[in-house]
Amino acid sequence: MKILVTGGVGYIGSHTVVELQQNGHEVVIVDNLSNSNIGVLDAIAKITGIKPEFENFDLADKTKTEDFFKCHSDIQGIIHFAAFKAVGESVNEPLMYYRNNLFSLVNILQSMKDNGVENLVFSSSCTVYGQPEKLPVSENAPVQKAESPYGNTKQISEEIIFDTVKASDIKGIAVRYFNPIGAHETAIIGELPLGVPNCLMPYITQTAIGIREQLSVFGDDYKTPDGTAIRDYIHVADLAKAHVIAVERMVKQKMKKDFEYFNLGTGNGYSVLEVIKSFEKVSGEKLNYKIVGRRAGDIEKVWADTNFANDELGWKAQQNIDEMTLSAWKWEQKLALNNK
Ligand code: NAD
Ligand code: WQD
Repeated sequence: MKILVTGGVGYIGSHTVVELQQNGHEVVIVDNLSNSNIGVLDAIAKITGIKPEFENFDLADKTKTEDFFKCHSDIQGIIHFAAFKAVGESVNEPLMYYRNNLFSLVNILQSMKDNGVENLVFSSSCTVYGQPEKLPVSENAPVQKAESPYGNTKQISEEIIFDTVKASDIKGIAVRYFNPIGAHETAIIGELPLGVPNCLMPYITQTAIGIREQLSVFGDDYKTPDGTAIRDYIHVADLAKAHVIAVERMVKQKMKKDFEYFNLGTGNGYSVLEVIKSFEKVSGEKLNYKIVGRRAGDIEKVWADTNFANDELGWKAQQNIDEMTLSAWKWEQKLALNNK
């Protein structure tokens, strides 16, 4: 199958391109490198032996998106990762986020309609659930008011796809990720955060390698066993595999509804201190951290009900927390070697 991967040079996209290629699919990537590095294309080729076809343009540009689709009418499915994703930045620059994340999606859907491309897998997020009342959280849990413009773009995007699916031949799968961490087993691709990371895992590895002085643990007064917040961390390679299954499900017409939603998590929750302990165990490093106040907008705890994804996709996350933190650490060490 020929699959368009938007944002395929980025963190989750690059791991998914590898999985797609290793499952025999032909990949074309569109990415404007706004949050990624062109060198990732060679890194993908180093793992799979195939350099993916690549076009560099902004999907929020309607004309360029239309022109691209006119030249690629043989695309059978799209996995749409391309988006801005920094929660804090979105609070300060809401229009930048709405323009980038929503215009891109609308342009893609319009081009799909105009060119008879029917299958779209969309990168959504567990952030749509806010703080769920019931845990583990299933796909049927209500979507709650978004805490940030970024989170809102995910909710609005799901609605835009829902309405478009109702009014056309287009089908959609929204995959709601929990907390993706880790890197490819070869340590040839991984997460490349620009500037100071917002997310826990890269902050831990950057602290351990000496780029950051100290990790701040945001809050130890939550109603959790050790007081720190709980998340469902999932290995990025497991996540990537789920995308291959999702896009194949669409193209092979195995969907039960024209728009489906899947939680992609492990079903296990780990606290911040448990992630730190896992990291210290697998790396043998002592992490410099201190407890500080809560971070605004953080929820207390969330983990996924994975039954629907497990049963319907026949997919289950395989890697445990130690494997995740170890692969993140190997990647950070590899980056340090490369920068020497
Ligand atoms: P990333 O920033 O590493 O990758 C996104 C890629 O899209 C980048 O390479 C960037 O250059 C590209 N891009 C952005 N806007 C574009 C545009 N207008 N035109 C063309 N290319 C554009 O992010 P990621 O972590 O790989 O996330 C991928 C998707 O998954 C995003 O939609 C994100 O919101 C979603 N998501 C991520 C997480 C997470 O924790 N990483 C969690 C839930 C959902
Ligand atoms: C995890 C835990 C922090 C950094 C974010 C987005 C969400 C989704 C995934 C895209 C929390 C704590 C963190 C630090 C800390 N992204 N922490 N010190 O906030 O669950 O989710 O990424 O869709 O939308 O909001 O992930 O990795 O930032 O935080 O103590 O320096 O680690 O408070 O409890 P989060 P995270």
